[in-house]
Amino acid sequence: MSQKFYLTTAIHYVNDLPHIGHIYENVVADVIARYKRMRGFDTFLLTGTDEHGQKIERMAAKQGISPIELADRVVADHHRLWKVLGISHDDFIRTTESRHRLGVYELIRRIQEQNPTDLYLGEFAGWYCPSEESFLTETQVIDGRCESGHPVERMTERNYFFKLSAYQERLLAHYRDNPDFVQPRSRFNEVISFVESGLRDLSVSRTTIRWGIPWPGATGDAEHIIYVWLDALTNYISALGFGSGDDSRFRRYWPADVHLIGKDIIRFHSVYWPAFLMAAGVELPKTILAHGWWLRDDQKISKSVGNIVRPDAIIEQFGPDPLRYYMLREMVFGQDANYSDQAFLARYNADLANDLGNTLSRAVKMSDTYFLGKTPPVPCDDNDVMRAAEAAVPEYLEAMDRYAFQRALDAVWKLLVATNGYIVSREPWKHFKEKGADEALSRILWNVLEANRIVWTMLSPFLPHLAPEALRRLGAGPGELGERDLAWGGLPTGAPIEVHDPLFPRIDAKEFFGAAIAPSSGGTMTEEKRESPAAAAASQSGPPLETTQAVPPQAQKITIDEFMKTDLRVAQVLSAERVEKSKKLLKLRVNDGEGERQLVAGIATRYTPEELVGRKVVIVANLQPAMLMGVESNGMVLAASIDGQPSLLSVDLDVPPGTRVR
Ligand code: MSP
Repeated sequence: MSQKFYLTTAIHYVNDLPHIGHIYENVVADVIARYKRMRGFDTFLLTGTDEHGQKIERMAAKQGISPIELADRVVADHHRLWKVLGISHDDFIRTTESRHRLGVYELIRRIQEQNPTDLYLGEFAGWYCPSEESFLTETQVIDGRCESGHPVERMTERNYFFKLSAYQERLLAHYRDNPDFVQPRSRFNEVISFVESGLRDLSVSRTTIRWGIPWPGATGDAEHIIYVWLDALTNYISALGFGSGDDSRFRRYWPADVHLIGKDIIRFHSVYWPAFLMAAGVELPKTILAHGWWLRDDQKISKSVGNIVRPDAIIEQFGPDPLRYYMLREMVFGQDANYSDQAFLARYNADLANDLGNTLSRAVKMSDTYFLGKTPPVPCDDNDVMRAAEAAVPEYLEAMDRYAFQRALDAVWKLLVATNGYIVSREPWKHFKEKGADEALSRILWNVLEANRIVWTMLSPFLPHLAPEALRRLGAGPGELGERDLAWGGLPTGAPIEVHDPLFPRIDAKEFFGAAIAPSSGGTMTEEKRESPAAAAASQSGPPLETTQAVPPQAQKITIDEFMKTDLRVAQVLSAERVEKSKKLLKLRVNDGEGERQLVAGIATRYTPEELVGRKVVIVANLQPAMLMGVESNGMVLAASIDGQPSLLSVDLDVPPGTRVR
């Protein structure tokens, strides 16, 4: 039987609809799950909703509905969104389901059976943050607020306690023996210092709220409701049938290989959860994998801050795959990233429309014309693109195995760039004109299609809707992908190919933002509600959780987001002439990948118009038009200047006009 891989997301609260942060988590989980399936693992992906607790109780009351009505509405939205985004979960658990309650009771029963003194009744007096559903020490409360800036409440209750203090040494020993237990390492170090600084017993029941699972057993204990984190964390095993009549899935898939979560809930997963499991004598999960936050203006995107990003409009216009790609490409896994529609569109046009989409269209169109709608008849197993593929695939696999999605995509793009370079250097169109569709042309084009096939196979976990379509166009047919599909040589000869409209039609930024919201206003089409900075600051007086990882705006430095607003791209000079009465200026017409434009460049002291024609230069394509000596210039040609003498920037490989420079 194949090796199993059990992967979970955090279960999302139902006090509001999912936003970009939740979506990111489920997309990452889906990319991992699809990748693991492609590599032959018997993969099980779990997601779901966390429906109990004060937060939900209060939100429902505010809306004048019952908590379960609120949960049902939000859950319906989760199902809709996960379907649209192609999230391939194998199960969806709700903590209000009876199978979940059975799991929670079984966990408590096992703790009581194996370590009878670990759960005891005691007096709790202290601070509680309803927004984060967490108990706080005196030092964690500043001016009546928790570390995230939410107001806290004083509580005195007779509660059940879990003897967390007894697990300090065992947890530290587990951390020592399992150096990859929490990833990334920097986060693990924070967890270790937290545990080393001493653990206090944890209150695990509440009597002041009603919306939750009653504490098991008779004798008045029913007034106790199980603490929401003890309830919620158990979803990872209750969904597998733990505590039910059929625990075959639990026996097959537990322990989890990866609990994927955001950095704000690491402590619950790497301290409390393993301690509960140790007390119950249940095996611990293998890895807690923590991702960073999506930020907006350097603040965490969240309901309480009020800077929610909901990408419905983006999905509607572009389909789900470009958003999936953007999120995985833009965020270095584990770190924070700023969301912006501008960066999304820049990536869409440069990476998807230009690099990926154009390469596919070119390959398919040439094969269609030269080999009459079929993949070429003669394959090839000794050439430069093949070597590029053989270098890219192991790099991709290694990066995917380490959850380094950006690096994995970089590896794919290396193959894509090499494929483009190969097309340019072999000039199949010239070959066809001179020698017709001979064997050499067959090999060239077969190589190009084959490299595209491998590119799309590697991208299939990221672009699950478009990859089957692209592979069909390439003549590689649909069908389940496996590890063998990453090897050179898989493309059949003489198979039908399909020419269709581009997969990623280019979108003009001006039209796009004109139709949405002008970017200069700071708004975005995905924005739901925006508070003034002052209001946002007032609603969040404390620093965000774990601020060491947030990226503060630094004086004199620009963010990657600001940089990405500059549209730098390769353009090819079509014609050049001197500007009258100027010693320095040349008027150029260039092809910028989307069309022609006129530019004026101060490079005449070094370059003659003749030598520039045909040359590829790098331009800033989104500058406001300017008049130079009465001639309109739409952009700027980049050059270094040595003692006033310009030296034009160029790119190493022969990339097509329109290629984005970053
Ligand atoms: N219900 C708890 C988790 C219980 S798991 C046993 C919870 N829910 S949540 O809805 O607030 O968050 C769900 C997941 O989304 C968490 O992993 C959280 O870190 C993640 N995100 C919420 N906002 C986020 C961003 N702005 N950016 C990225 N992910 C963040 O916590």
